[in-house]
Amino acid sequence: MVYNKMRNLKSVLTLLSDEKHYSGEIIAKKLKMTRAGVWKIIQYANTIGIEINGITRKGYQITYPISFLSPVKIKEYLSEDQKKNIKIIEVFDEIDSTNSYLLQRIYEFSKIPRICLAEQQTEGRGRRGRIWHSPFGQNIYLSLLWKFSASRSDFQGLSLVVAIAIAEVLKKLNLPKPVQLKWPNDIFIGGKKCAGILIETRGEMHDGVQVVIGVGINVNMERSTTQEISQNWTSLFRELHHTLDRNILTANIINKIIEYVDLFDKKGFAFFQARFEKYDMTVSRDIQVNYDNKIIKGKARGTDQQGRLILMTNEGRILISIGDVSLLL
Ligand code: BTN
Repeated sequence: MVYNKMRNLKSVLTLLSDEKHYSGEIIAKKLKMTRAGVWKIIQYANTIGIEINGITRKGYQITYPISFLSPVKIKEYLSEDQKKNIKIIEVFDEIDSTNSYLLQRIYEFSKIPRICLAEQQTEGRGRRGRIWHSPFGQNIYLSLLWKFSASRSDFQGLSLVVAIAIAEVLKKLNLPKPVQLKWPNDIFIGGKKCAGILIETRGEMHDGVQVVIGVGINVNMERSTTQEISQNWTSLFRELHHTLDRNILTANIINKIIEYVDLFDKKGFAFFQARFEKYDMTVSRDIQVNYDNKIIKGKARGTDQQGRLILMTNEGRILISIGDVSLLL
C-alpha cells in the first residue's frame, strides 16, 4: 500500500518534471492510474511540500522539477578514487532512518565503505534524541558505513572533520552568506542551520572500529511542512533561490567526506584543527554548553588537538567533549 503510494508519487513527479502541463486524464492514461488516484497523489504531494499547480484547461504543472536520487548518476560524478573505493550505494524511496538501517546491520555488512541514501525518512534522527525533518524528494539523507583502523581511538574530532568536508563542498556553491560550523556537528549558513551530522557505533571490534556517519542536508526544501522544525533553519534553495541537482551534490559530498575521513584515520584531528578554526562560529564568543541537565557558561576558545571545545569560565579553562552549544548575545 505504502509502496504503491510512493511509486505512484515518484511516477507522477517524474512525468511532471519536464515542466510541461499535463491534464489529470493524460497523467492517468500514461501511468495507468485512475483520475481519482492522480488527484489524490497531487493533493498528497502538496501536503508534503512539493508544489503542483492545477491550471484550468491546461492541467497540472510542477513548480520545481525533481530529479530523483540514482546510484548510477551519483557514481558518474564520483572521483576516480571513490569509484574504485566505494563498494555499495543504495537508495531507498522511503526508510525509517538511513543511520538505523546501517547501524542495525553494522557487523553483517562486510563490504565497506557502503553508502545508504533515502528520498524520505519516516523516523529521521538528530543528535540527542531529536527528530530530523526528512520530507520526500527534496533533501539529502545519507549514511556512510566506515571502518577505522584499530589504532585510532580519539573519535572526538570525527564529526568536526565531516562538518569541515560538508562546509568545503557548500562553499563552492558560491552562497551569498558565509558557511560556518558550530561545535560539534552543526553546519550553518548566514546564522541558520542547514545541515547536521549524527555519528553512531555499536562497540568495538578487534581489527578496527566500525561507525555509521549520518549526514542530513536541507537542499531543495522550501518550507517546513507537517512538523515544525524547532531550530532556526535554512536550505540551499532558500539561500540560492534555485534548486540543485541532488545527485551531483551527493557525489561531491561523498568524495569530500571519504577523502577527509581517510585523512583523519591516518593523521587525527590535529591535521584539521586550523581548518576548523576558519569556520568556527563560536570562537571568542560567549556561549553556554548544556550537558546532562547542567549548564556551563564561558568564552569559547576554539578546540584542542583532539577536537575538544575549549571554554574559559570563571573557574578557569575547561575542555568539553560532549554537549550542546548555544551562543549568548
Ligand atoms: C543533528 O543535527 O542533530 C544531526 C542530524 C543528522 C540527520 C541525518 S539524515 C541521515 C541520517 N539518518 C538519520 O536518521 N539521521 C542522519
